[in-house]
Amino acid sequence: MIGTGYVGLVSGVCFSDLGNDVICVDRDIKKIENLKKGIIPIFEPGLEELILKNYNNNRLKFSTNLKETISNSDIIFICVGTPTKKNEGGADLSQILNVANEIRSSISKFKIIITKSTVPITTGDKIEKIISQKVSKKLFSVVSNPEFLREGEAIRDFTYPDRIIIGTNDKKSNKILKNLYSPLISKGAKYINSSRRAAELTKYASNAFLATKITFINELANLCEKIDVNVEDISIGMGLDKRIGGRFLRAGPAYGGSCFPKDTKALINTADKFKTNLSIIKSVIKSNDNRSTLLLKKVFEILKGKAKNKKISFLGVTFKANTDDMRDSSCLTMIPSLIKKGALVNYFDPTGEKNELKKIKNVSYSKNINDTIKNSDLIIIHTEWNDFKLINFNKIVKNKNFSIFDMRNIYSLKKMKKMKINYFAIGC
Ligand SMILES: NC(=O)c1ccc[n+]([C@@H]2O[C@H](COP(=O)([O-])OP(=O)(O)OC[C@H]3O[C@@H](n4cnc5c(N)ncnc54)[C@H](O)[C@@H]3O)[C@@H](O)[C@H]2O)c1
Repeated sequence: MIGTGYVGLVSGVCFSDLGNDVICVDRDIKKIENLKKGIIPIFEPGLEELILKNYNNNRLKFSTNLKETISNSDIIFICVGTPTKKNEGGADLSQILNVANEIRSSISKFKIIITKSTVPITTGDKIEKIISQKVSKKLFSVVSNPEFLREGEAIRDFTYPDRIIIGTNDKKSNKILKNLYSPLISKGAKYINSSRRAAELTKYASNAFLATKITFINELANLCEKIDVNVEDISIGMGLDKRIGGRFLRAGPAYGGSCFPKDTKALINTADKFKTNLSIIKSVIKSNDNRSTLLLKKVFEILKGKAKNKKISFLGVTFKANTDDMRDSSCLTMIPSLIKKGALVNYFDPTGEKNELKKIKNVSYSKNINDTIKNSDLIIIHTEWNDFKLINFNKIVKNKNFSIFDMRNIYSLKKMKKMKINYFAIGC
């Protein structure tokens, strides 16, 4: 596994747990040193136990030596980052292409080289071209095998995937990979062999569709707020239709994270290159970009236009619950805007203090929920951790005129009304 981040580490550990010998390699020396000591670089439920089990069984190894790792491997998964290019919407493929350049000198017997990273259509062709400049095409095959795991559910998603997509026309590689994945196929995962380009595009199409679903219900929530309808009723009513499905149909803050924002933009960039107008996805990006501004407007309404010196506490600052990932979290837009208006922000996140917020003046971190909210004028529930679901607000908060803005609709409107709490939610 080249790249020991959310995808490479989880996939590597899970493959080793299925009985394979796995080497996780990363250029980040500190990360690898820590992993060897049992210090896990990311928060992912269940990951630590699985790493320790397989590391102690010697099936899982960690290394910074890419060349040696390639020489000793039959199957190579590229799991490095594909962030958005600066000043452009497209994917920055420099990490991927660097790896392709680095590994080509270590191939002396047949190897399958797989992109597990999310890469734009034709990236497999580019990798093949780079490697074939030094290595005979008989000695390698480039395959696309996009990963669909979700942070926070990554081990379960890897172990019980809905589908495994293998993009290759090479029969030998297909047979080897079908065998590699056979323990998951026998548990019910659908195995799909498509062209490499189709596999690359399927990943973007899936993420863009999920981003569309979230944005769709977020926009409907805006309408619900004006017509005295609860958007939760709409989500349930729509979601029970099997053609639609209830997942990713809960209204909330703007979608964020390391995938949807960058993948929607990269898909538009690809479509532009092939002179195709993906107008739906363009609207989704625009609507999502406006979402934080819209929610901020509501915050200012709750504060009756007076944010100066108001104590606002955030419960959860990552892009969603059960992860420590801050990439493109809507908090990174909302908190600085509130500070600009003179508010004082205090936050708690079950995954700890965040470097991204340390630099911002008038933002402080508390180590527990009670300390975070006790002096608040307004409490914003930003993510849906279980830790936030049964808080006795009236007992903890000293200021009896406090308000709650529940951006995940965790609490019952009725109960909050009964407790005389100034409670606001999304889409109702
Ligand atoms: N995070 C997710 O939930 C998720 C889900 C599905 C797909 N993906 C895709 O998987 C890819 C990886 O995402 P991630 O979140 O795991 O990224 P990440 O940033 O957490 O990890 C990438 C790792 O690659 C390492 N790396 C970069 N260049 C290297 C090189 N030349 N040699 C060795 N290591 C190198 C980095 O040091 C880093 O540790 C992206 O394309 C992403 O879109 C991510």
